[in-house]
Amino acid sequence: RHTRFRNVTGVQTCALPISPIDAFEETVKILIASGGRGANITVPFKQEAFRLADDLSPRAQAAGAVNTLQFREGSVFGDNTDGVGLVRDIVAAAGVALRGRQVLLLGAGGAARGVILPLLAESPARLVLVNRTPERAAELAAQFSGEGVLIEARGYADLGEAFDVVINATSASLSSDLPPVLPSVFGNRSFVYDMMYAAEPTPFMAFASYYGATVRDGLGMLVEQAAESFYLWRGIRPQTAPVYDWLRTQL
Ligand code: ATR
Repeated sequence: RHTRFRNVTGVQTCALPISPIDAFEETVKILIASGGRGANITVPFKQEAFRLADDLSPRAQAAGAVNTLQFREGSVFGDNTDGVGLVRDIVAAAGVALRGRQVLLLGAGGAARGVILPLLAESPARLVLVNRTPERAAELAAQFSGEGVLIEARGYADLGEAFDVVINATSASLSSDLPPVLPSVFGNRSFVYDMMYAAEPTPFMAFASYYGATVRDGLGMLVEQAAESFYLWRGIRPQTAPVYDWLRTQL
């Protein structure tokens, strides 16, 4: 994706697999020594990047993870653009407003935690966090209470009402599994987002669209988070739609 941004902006980028797998810090040092501006960090290195950064943005602090490093004069700045990427894909690319809406977030792992602060910044009417292990949802709700938005933690069994927007941040789709939500969470016009993406709709997307929801996968989030990272490094906001379209053809 960054290579595509380079093509539209003329900035040099490269993708770097980290090998051996424990060579994260060493790889970052090499990047700094070779004059890099920064790096986008993917799973499983986001916590390591969090530990390595000298300074953190509030959204990285809240996420407990870093997906973007910026190499500054004598220090490393850690940011997290995942949540903004998700929000931008929903609001700008898909054209679905979050302000004043009833939003349901499924999952309470790193993926969920990483997007809560930017979701709250959109001022939904209410954010409900649901997790298979309800205590983890309760911990997250406690962490993010006080941001001026009503935030509730529930177990799946306590979920009866319909939501305007349902976001799947569980890892269930990775194992072709479904989080145990009842179809009643999809109202007449629910918008359902799965943070995973694949050539085919995920099982959760298939389930939701069967019950009438409009669905979208996480490919756009991937592109939007990369664009936001690019902006941090270079001050240029690359156009995302052509990159999204091109990546879709490559799945
Ligand atoms: P990640 O960093 O991708 O979020 P994680 O921290 O392992 O990974 O969290 C995975 C999330 O997916 C958790 O919320 C997990 O629920 P539990 O906390 O109860 O384990 C959720 N999850 C995984 N498989 C699931 C499934 N089949 N149904 C519902 N939730 C699932």
